[in-house]
Amino acid sequence: MTTYTASAPGKLMLFGEHAVVYGRPCLVTTVGLYVSATVTPTQTSAVTITTPALRARGEVHTVALADLGRQLQPETAFVEAIAARALQLAEQPHGLRIDTDGPQLSYGLGSSSAVTVATAAALNAAIGLALSQRALFDLAYSAVLDAQGKGSGFDVAAAIYGGTLWFETGGTAIEPVDAPELPFRIGYSGAKVSTRRFVDGVEQLRERNPLIVERIFDTIGGIVVQARTALEQGDWGKLGDLMDLNQGLLDALGVNTPALAQLIFATRNAGALGAKLSGAGGGDCMVALALDEQRTPIDGAIRQAGTLVELPLGVPGVRVTVR
Ligand code: PMV
Repeated sequence: MTTYTASAPGKLMLFGEHAVVYGRPCLVTTVGLYVSATVTPTQTSAVTITTPALRARGEVHTVALADLGRQLQPETAFVEAIAARALQLAEQPHGLRIDTDGPQLSYGLGSSSAVTVATAAALNAAIGLALSQRALFDLAYSAVLDAQGKGSGFDVAAAIYGGTLWFETGGTAIEPVDAPELPFRIGYSGAKVSTRRFVDGVEQLRERNPLIVERIFDTIGGIVVQARTALEQGDWGKLGDLMDLNQGLLDALGVNTPALAQLIFATRNAGALGAKLSGAGGGDCMVALALDEQRTPIDGAIRQAGTLVELPLGVPGVRVTVR
């Protein structure tokens, strides 16, 4: 029996979170935290899904093809959503087995989007959809919206295209950014409740204060424009300023936490040229700009205030192998 395995990386938001949900650009890079999905076509009329957590309990999740995507279960929502979307494009119904794998702790670095993309790419090969990169993005992004309700799609684009990207809401622009170096260190502050909660919180703040919050989004958009140039030119002093400015505006949006702030101030005090939270806020990760000579004290500061996450950055996007 032929199996199709795809492996997709996680993401690290560099600049522009939250504003990217409202039509502004962001900059994102990939992290070498890989999630895989193995798809095996079967002679059944059902989709059987296993994840590391389900396997640990000796369980599988099986859904009849006729019911696929109708009632997403939290543990398998992203996988089932992409299977339902992909099978809608298939010429004939397919029974499938989908086994996903990945790290136990993913630090909020994009494991849901990575598992969706890995499953999408494996299905693309397994059921012969022959989708382009762009069509794969559109398919995986709709599945993420099915499972999660909201999101700009930046994480889906990172997992598909790889490297460092300029991304605009919904993929209206997805452009590679030529960043010669990515001298960033990642600090993990502990789990957050949910991305959705913080995206909703910003939406409510915007409803109460539309003019001010729109101006904050515009300013963040302006920071992203300048950050792209600074990143491409290796202008670290400028990039550090822009990180600190972006952080101030994220704090204004109400998504900072004491644990993130502690990591951010600790790394700045240890010599980081700039530091900011990364992602929706409320927990998860922050990122510090650490040139070689300041790296050791900055790593030490992160270890003291939280967890140092050492992963390669700017890695390639999803890869499929057939066995
Ligand atoms: O919490 P994360 O790392 O999934 O990042 C969310 C980033 C947001 O801009 C807040 C939402 C989005 O989909 O762009």
